[in-house]
Amino acid sequence: MKKVTILGIETSCDETGVALLQASKIGSKYRLELKENLLHSQIALHKKTGGVVPEVAAREHAVRLPLLLQQLSNKIGTKKLQKNIDAIAVTNGPGLVTSLLVGTEVARTIAFAWNKPLVPVNHLEGHIYANLILDSQNSELKISNFDNKEFNFPLLALLVSGGHTELVLMKNHLNYKIIGSTLDDAVGEAFDKSAKLMGLPYPGGPALAKLASQGKRDAISFPRPMLDRPNFDFSFSGIKTSVATYIKKHPRADKKNISASFEEAVIETLVTKTIRAAQKYKPKAIALAGGVSANSYLREIMKTRVAQECKKVTVLEPLLPFSTDNGAMIAAAGAVRYLNGFTVPWDKVKVDPNLPLK
Ligand code: KG4
Ligand code: ZN
Repeated sequence: MKKVTILGIETSCDETGVALLQASKIGSKYRLELKENLLHSQIALHKKTGGVVPEVAAREHAVRLPLLLQQLSNKIGTKKLQKNIDAIAVTNGPGLVTSLLVGTEVARTIAFAWNKPLVPVNHLEGHIYANLILDSQNSELKISNFDNKEFNFPLLALLVSGGHTELVLMKNHLNYKIIGSTLDDAVGEAFDKSAKLMGLPYPGGPALAKLASQGKRDAISFPRPMLDRPNFDFSFSGIKTSVATYIKKHPRADKKNISASFEEAVIETLVTKTIRAAQKYKPKAIALAGGVSANSYLREIMKTRVAQECKKVTVLEPLLPFSTDNGAMIAAAGAVRYLNGFTVPWDKVKVDPNLPLK
């Protein structure tokens, strides 16, 4: 069995990530074992402005990425690292163009200097493959065994991040068909904007979710956008407006109840549409992916309703540290790409801030 070692680099938005992952293919399955995972979060930096300023994020990546690589090199030994790496995987889109450029330029330079193959990875594909990461260091060890970490096709992925809300049907590895997407705001954006309206600190999503767990979910009836439409598209800008209107009318309302009612409305919408898509496309598994997949209420409701309404379908979720942006997920998707021969010469790798998943 051939084992390969992949260096993963992620800089598409506001997290600088570097990871080392060992991968092998067993029949049609992949074993993706995380060896090292380094992450520098820019949260503290962006708290000051209440959101990500692209140039500030890119400058921080330019400082942090070489430091993370140095840290990895110090731990493993530069010569050993150079010898062991089979390929370098890097996010080349979608994301903030200046942030993407930092990661890809560094990856291109290492690929050139060390004469290693380069594998460009779509950030969204990384989020989906985060579901397969095996991490023996992780305390959620029980679910990180091999049996629970495999894709059975067809697979339906609910991709929910700060910039994307998509239902993706996979008939095989690296094969994506988008069957539904948001017509306006992404669900993560709705979490963040609603949190901001309530005066919660950046990043709003997790802060809102924390309050929601202590509130009454039926306190306020927020709209369930697009649930009456038969397609698999979403719309989340209206609910943010409803939150704004509610706060204006009830300035002293309990933020816990607003958060809980908001979360109830968006999670019900996401889960109901996913189940409807599952009933039509009959997947063997549903995978949660993207930053919002860190949301514990989404995880809970998806598992409960799938067990009731789509009995034989399994629900996959990434280990918690790999829900939000990280380098390990890029190494994971990059490993599957590399094992399938998808490398690109270093001088041909380009970034695309709107890179589609295909
Ligand atoms: O995937 P991600 O880390 O970055 C992008 O690719 O966009 O997703 C970030 C999004 C943000 O909107 C953030 O508020 C949201 O994921 N998020 C959450 C939670 N953790 C992160 N939303 C709801 N509940 C959470 N626990
Ligand atoms: Zn992301």
